[in-house]
Amino acid sequence: MTQRIYNFSAGPAVLPVEVLEEARENLLSLGTTGIGILEHSHRGKAYMAVHEEAEAVCRELAGIPDDYDVLFLQGGASLQFSMVPMNLLGPGQTADYLVTGAWSQKALVEARRCGNVHIACTSEDRNFNYIPKTCTFSSRPAYVHFTSNNTIFGTEFQTEPETPTGAPLVCDASSDIFSRPLPVAKYAVIYAGAQKNLGPSGVTLVIIHKELVARCPKDLATMLQYRTYAAEHSLYNTPPTFGIYIMGLVFKWIKKQGGLQAIERANRERAGKLYRYLDESRRFRATAERDSRSQMNVTFVTGDAALDDKFVGTAKKAGLDGLKGHRSVGGMRASLYNAFPKVGVDALLEVMREFEAQNC
Ligand SMILES: Cc1ncc(COP(=O)(O)O)c(C=O)c1O
Repeated sequence: MTQRIYNFSAGPAVLPVEVLEEARENLLSLGTTGIGILEHSHRGKAYMAVHEEAEAVCRELAGIPDDYDVLFLQGGASLQFSMVPMNLLGPGQTADYLVTGAWSQKALVEARRCGNVHIACTSEDRNFNYIPKTCTFSSRPAYVHFTSNNTIFGTEFQTEPETPTGAPLVCDASSDIFSRPLPVAKYAVIYAGAQKNLGPSGVTLVIIHKELVARCPKDLATMLQYRTYAAEHSLYNTPPTFGIYIMGLVFKWIKKQGGLQAIERANRERAGKLYRYLDESRRFRATAERDSRSQMNVTFVTGDAALDDKFVGTAKKAGLDGLKGHRSVGGMRASLYNAFPKVGVDALLEVMREFEAQNC
C-alpha cells in the first residue's frame, strides 16, 4: 500500500487509521452478515444496529440529555444555514447572528431570505482575525446563531457567547465539534458537517432540543422540517448509511481515547506546540489574535506571499499536504483535527525550522 502522508486538509480531512482499517474489513462483509456495509438495506436489522449504536455512543460521549434529538441529515452544514431559519424564525421575529467569518456570513445570507436578521457583532473590520468580546443583541431574538470555530480564519470561541436570557443558542460547530467537552444543555441546536472531526462528507449531525422541534412550522416541505427526521429517527428516507457507520466508529474511537476531555488535552498539546513555535519564529507568525486562536485550524504567514507559496511547495515535497491557506486569506493553514497524529506536527515543525534557517 502507498504510504500515508500528513494531511493538513481543512476538510474532508484525516480520519483515525483504526477507523479506516475497520471500515475496510466491513466493506466486504459487515461482521458475519456476508453483505458489505455499503450494501445493507437501511431497514434491515444489521444496519439498524449500526444506526442505533452511532446515536447511542454520540449521546454518551457528549452527555446529550434525553430532551434533545440526535439527527443524521444530508445537505451539509450549508443546508442547515437554511433549515435553521426556516424552522426557527417565525413571522415578525428577528434572529441574531454573530458574524465571525465566511461561514457565518453565509448563514446570515440564508436567514435573511426567511425573515429579519440582526448582526450582534462582527469581526470583519480586521478580516475576521479575532472573536469580538461584546455583542449587542436585538430585544427578543428568536435565536442567536454563532460559528464556534472559523475554519478559514483560524479563530475559535473559547467558550459559549453570553446571550440574552431565554434566547435559544444555535451553533455551527462543523470544524470543532467533539474537539472538547460540549455543554449541550446551553444550546438549542448544534449542527456540524461530518467531514472534519466526525467522518466522511455527506452526513450532517444535528443535536436539537425537542421543544424547538415541536415548534417548527408544519407547512414546510417535508424534507426541510426537523420534525420529519426526529419522528423517524433519521430514517424517514434512505439516510447516508455509510457516513453514519463511519461516524459511529469515530465516536467509539474518541471514547477509546478517553472521551472529550482527553481529546481536548491532546488537541491543546498539538496546537500549542505549533503556536509556541510561531510566537518565537523570526520568519512565521500566526494570523489570529492570541485570545481567539483555534485549536483546530492554525493559520500563519511569512509576511511575503511568494515565500508562503515557496513554503507550501517545500512542505509538500516533505510529505506535508494541504497546508495552503484558504484563497480569501492566503498564507498557510494547518488543520489539526482530532485524528491528526502528533508526530505530524513534529514533522511540520522540522520543515518550518529548516525553512526559517534558510529564509531569514
Ligand atoms: C464552519 C463551517 N461551516 C460550514 C461549512 C460548510 O459545510 P458543508 O460543505 O458541509 O456545507 C464549513 C465547511 O468547511 C465550515 O467549516
